[in-house]
Amino acid sequence: MAILKILKYGDPVLRQKSKEVSKISKKIRTLIENMLDTMYAANGVGLAAPQVGENLRIFVIDVSAENEPYRPLVFVNPKIIKKEGAICVKEGCLSFPEAYTNVRRYSEVRVKALDINGKPFVMDARGGELLAYAIQHENDHLDGILFIDHSRNIFETTEILKKYNLPQIEDDKLLNEEELEKMILEREKENPKPAEDNKEEADGN
Ligand code: NI
Repeated sequence: MAILKILKYGDPVLRQKSKEVSKISKKIRTLIENMLDTMYAANGVGLAAPQVGENLRIFVIDVSAENEPYRPLVFVNPKIIKKEGAICVKEGCLSFPEAYTNVRRYSEVRVKALDINGKPFVMDARGGELLAYAIQHENDHLDGILFIDHSRNIFETTEILKKYNLPQIEDDKLLNEEELEKMILEREKENPKPAEDNKEEADGN
């Protein structure tokens, strides 16, 4: 049980592409437990491994309401296998304290991943559910893509970053919809073989 330091925007780790987890070792399990502790301590809905300095394909989410018991969800080597619809939602991120902007997301997604015990599962997040956007937001972190890259209003984003004294988005990160989609597709292609076939290899970092 430990609360980890959450990296803030500007840290280069947040822009790197994360590696698949080859084996859910004790070390990885501890990292996941610490990520959950860190997310709850920060009152976050989701947290991705790069945000705590580990470029590994892991994220955690809990979309339970304040008065409900915790419902932690763990995604290791996730892959979004279906996405449908479009919706505009206001998002924030633990790596951007108190900054929010409207972003465009798919309204529903289907994701496959491994749980904390390495067991594969498939999950559907339906339209209008916070879970659907959270999955897309956290999954993007694993490819070095941040919510501000999806911003519908670059002026709003610029103002937010200025207000909180955060670094501005570099010019080459101001992507239009088409470029962003292309970048995501390219990054998906770069991904090594599916997690299930990926038995032995180094233990990540
Ligand atoms: Ni985030």
